[in-house]
Amino acid sequence: VLRQSVKPNALKQNQRSWSFLQPQASYKVTILGAAGGIGQPLALLVKMSPLISALHLYDIANVKGVAADLSHCNTPSQVLDFTGASELADSLKGVDVVVIPAGVPRKPGMTRDDLFNINASIVKTLIEAVADNCPDAFIQIISNPVNSTVPIAAEVLKQKGVYDPKKLFGVTTLDVVRANTFVAQKKNLKLIDVDVPVVGGHAGITILPLLSKTKPSVSLSDEELQELTMRIQNAGTEVVEAKVGAGSATLSMAYAAARFVESSLRALDGDGDVYECCYIQSELTEIPFFASRVKLGRKGVEAVISSDLQGLTEYEEKALGALKPELKASIEKGIDFVHKQP
Ligand code: NAI
Repeated sequence: VLRQSVKPNALKQNQRSWSFLQPQASYKVTILGAAGGIGQPLALLVKMSPLISALHLYDIANVKGVAADLSHCNTPSQVLDFTGASELADSLKGVDVVVIPAGVPRKPGMTRDDLFNINASIVKTLIEAVADNCPDAFIQIISNPVNSTVPIAAEVLKQKGVYDPKKLFGVTTLDVVRANTFVAQKKNLKLIDVDVPVVGGHAGITILPLLSKTKPSVSLSDEELQELTMRIQNAGTEVVEAKVGAGSATLSMAYAAARFVESSLRALDGDGDVYECCYIQSELTEIPFFASRVKLGRKGVEAVISSDLQGLTEYEEKALGALKPELKASIEKGIDFVHKQP
């Protein structure tokens, strides 16, 4: 009956959709802060992954409607909603990847560090629950200031005795996405080909795009180099100002985070060719947390690509020297926050 009543093209379309209903892998992902400006588009993009069998959406409010809406998309994963502290543990049980965009965003005139007082407590509480319910998961922190929230998470996980530095990530993918876009625009390159490693941290001058390591290699005048570097470092503020009080980057951030989630899932699934920049506990420099390119594998960070920091230009060396004190101070602020808690 169905065959007779459906036009041939529509049937083909439906068959494609139906076969897509079987996940190609069965990973489970939780988004904490899923009803927010980043959380919603991120949930949509993650829902499109064929590698996921369950997508758990947690927030302190407004998440039921987001989940109901998303659950109608005919992609494989089942969408479940969890509201408020009493449902937090259940949102985390048995999951492989936890993504955290919970917290307040910047308004014009604010630095990422101005968010510290509110977001530090939110991240601490959420990570305690992660430690208790899915200590083996990949943990991906978006909440700012990332330079401090990742060390906060590390300390909480250590206190709980479940810290695996290879599985805790600050999401800096947006810095790479922005760098790739701006360089391609400036040099008239095909976007898909451009890859700029971005190292350091995720705030102002701690964001260091290594433009000399761009692939394909580009030649930049001193003026272009400075202009591009500053644009990449201030791109978040560009969005905050354009939104005039309505928040910070959400759509491009969701796009970037979805790329990082998908890369993590491919790595978990055994793909041996997954590289991303991210902010992790690191021995690459004397600074204990540092963003750099890493190879991802089933157990998290498999290798840190140290060659990116070799043979830097004078400009990059100077910028690297300049970012270290600020990054170090942000890390210490995060660690102190956890240790000063009653
Ligand atoms: P938003 O205010 O639109 O959404 C935040 C969500 O977090 C809200 O739905 C809120 O209910 C939820 N939330 C608050 N407290 C919570 C708690 N205790 N548990 C669970 N959820 C909680 O903010 P938006 O724009 O989505 O930004 C979120 C965070 O991401 C901000 O800290 C922002 O600075 C950061 N961000 C990070 C970027 C990066 O590159 N890493 C880029 C852009 C933003």
